[in-house]
Amino acid sequence: MPPEMKPGRVRLVGAGPGAADLLTLRALRAVEAAEALLYDALVPEEILALAPAACLKIQTGKRAGRTSMAQPTINRLMLRLARRGLQVIRLKGGDPSIFGRVGEEAAFLQAHGIEIEVIPGVTAACAAAAQFGFPLTHRGEARRVVFTTARLEAGTLSADWATAADPEATLCVYMGGAAAGELARRLIAAGRPAVTPAAVVESAGRPEARRLFAGSLAGLAEARLAGEGGPVLIVVGEVAGLPAVQRLSGPRAVCA
Ligand SMILES: C[S@@+](CC[C@H](N)C(=O)[O-])C[C@H]1O[C@@H](n2cnc3c(N)ncnc32)[C@H](O)[C@@H]1O
Repeated sequence: MPPEMKPGRVRLVGAGPGAADLLTLRALRAVEAAEALLYDALVPEEILALAPAACLKIQTGKRAGRTSMAQPTINRLMLRLARRGLQVIRLKGGDPSIFGRVGEEAAFLQAHGIEIEVIPGVTAACAAAAQFGFPLTHRGEARRVVFTTARLEAGTLSADWATAADPEATLCVYMGGAAAGELARRLIAAGRPAVTPAAVVESAGRPEARRLFAGSLAGLAEARLAGEGGPVLIVVGEVAGLPAVQRLSGPRAVCA
């Protein structure tokens, strides 16, 4: 790099659950100032449209089961763009610190002398809770929240089943849509009562959000989820069975 050229900065930004009005102001300002934008597949067009027309926009993929750019390629691309002196935005769905690989990307960039900033976002679990009217913690019933993932790999589901079976924990399961039935069966086998409430929310925080399932773990074990192809979050715990908090505004919640 020529000595007169100062390296740019990379901001690792949470885009929220997919509605532009759930971006934080700091995230919005970062996107509006972007010179290069590397974005995940869950970031919708209405948010990408907030970047300047001259901004270089690169999709990096990252939807389960679909082709994504390999992580080392993403890392090298961010580095190269920052070394060209550009203001680089790495835009991720939800919050970058929740299943967003922010730790790996930050460590890589810092190891190469690039300044970084992390800007948080609204994670899918918070968006689902707000939209469908349940809390994630509830006095006396849900003292802990566990953000976890449930992906079937070679037909098996790995998880910390002892933590998952904790009756006072609300489980927010990311990337688990395809494994919902198996997850429910495993939770019951691990000791979580079959009557424990469970909900499955698709596209939380967006106008097209739908609750694909509301019932018990036993019901989820048998359910056939008919989604529209949007991202799916599973919530297990007493909070999912509480009467919905009255919503005054915001996107309509569609319940199956
Ligand atoms: C790689 S993880 C990223 C999570 C993201 N960093 C967050 O904080 O929401 C992707 C998974 O998050 C969940 N997810 C993301 N956005 C969602 C949304 N709007 N509604 C429901 N689930 C969502 C889905 O389980 C999806 O498979």
